[in-house]
Amino acid sequence: MAKAQLLFPPDFLWGTATAAYQVEGNNKNSDWWAWEQGDGRILQNHKSGLASNWWANAEADLDIAAEMGTNAHRLSLEWSRIEPEPSVFNNAALGRYREILQAMHNRGIEPMVTLHHFSNPLWLVEKGDFNSKIVVDYFQRYTAKVVDVLGDLIPKWITINEPMVYVFMRYLAGAFPVGKHSGWQGALGAIPNLLRCHAAAYHAIKEKLPQAQVGIAKNMAVLQARPGSSALSRWWAGRVSWLFNNMWLDSMANGRLYFPIGRRTIPNLAGSYDFIGLNYYTRFYVNFPPFGGLLSDEWEPGAVVSDGNYGEIYPAGLFQMIEALLPYKKPIYITENGVPDSADQLRPSFLMTHLREIWRAISFCYPVMGYYHWSLVDNFEWDRGWTQRFGLIELNPETQERTWRESGRLYADICHSRSLTHRQAEKYAPELLQTIFRGETPD
Ligand code: BGC
Repeated sequence: MAKAQLLFPPDFLWGTATAAYQVEGNNKNSDWWAWEQGDGRILQNHKSGLASNWWANAEADLDIAAEMGTNAHRLSLEWSRIEPEPSVFNNAALGRYREILQAMHNRGIEPMVTLHHFSNPLWLVEKGDFNSKIVVDYFQRYTAKVVDVLGDLIPKWITINEPMVYVFMRYLAGAFPVGKHSGWQGALGAIPNLLRCHAAAYHAIKEKLPQAQVGIAKNMAVLQARPGSSALSRWWAGRVSWLFNNMWLDSMANGRLYFPIGRRTIPNLAGSYDFIGLNYYTRFYVNFPPFGGLLSDEWEPGAVVSDGNYGEIYPAGLFQMIEALLPYKKPIYITENGVPDSADQLRPSFLMTHLREIWRAISFCYPVMGYYHWSLVDNFEWDRGWTQRFGLIELNPETQERTWRESGRLYADICHSRSLTHRQAEKYAPELLQTIFRGETPD
């Protein structure tokens, strides 16, 4: 008997994602390198060290990505390598990035490049980084250099990764360098400058490369009140959700700031995006009153929770977040989605159930154009060091040995066939048989 198969469009991009600091190794001019040296800042005092050794040999993992059947990869550039001192550009570093980008093209893998993914040159921090308006000129200059030297190899760009997560972790949680010292004032001051940096970079790219597609990677989380909560709790959860999920996008769409940031207009910001990158991981319940934490770290009874209490596995939220992006009327790429699961017990089913939500969105004619799984290979997970493993490929950071996880093999199957099959669902996500694959019996 014929088995149903969920086919994806032929031009859908099948990708994986990484970030420079997390995979390259030895990024000694970055604020993260200095931060890591302090005691107790990274779980178990782990160090990034060689990370996944991409600076020396990204090609090894790109071979794996090609074998997996992917045709796209999202990576980032480390500003502190390219401009280790103000106005001093490192041609050797730019040359190495050219090699890596060319290696991707040679393997049929289209690069999507992020200019800022959480890490900064140390010198920028000394100048006040995103709390100082001067950052905008620096960011524009860095972008212009990258456009000149590497632009011909980069069809898709992300200016800034997860600005709201960055602001939260850097200024409010204090888990990112340089710690919690400037609190709410720092956070509220950084957001307009991050928006200005985004706009400046967008126009710097488009001016020289009008065909380039430029967007943002926006982390979206389902943020809601617990079922049965009061009207006030639901209202509060709605405000928190808007602040985290929508405020940045509304500013980018309309070119202005919103309360509580201010009411000013930011020149050249309105409409400065060609697509939206959606990074989706999980949902949270919002606490009201927020004493003792804005977000709850307790999940639904029976919820499946990933390593290190990272979050509940909630595939339906991916569909909801795609729908939340429809009013912005731009193509959508899923620029990150993954799960920390060193034993690889959850990831195969995670892949199936999340991709099925994307398939469902496409079947509603929602403009989802590609998927970049976080991550290709285990990498340095910021303040959680090596304790959380997101790779389709397992890495031993000491020996640099790689081992395919079962989820890596499954993703390879999916990428090669550009579909989800009944057989995969039977094996990895039988719950899907009851919905989309309903009506068929296994042979
Ligand atoms: C970040 C990545 C990070 C991943 C998993 C995202 O928020 O962009 O750098 O590794 O989440 O925590």
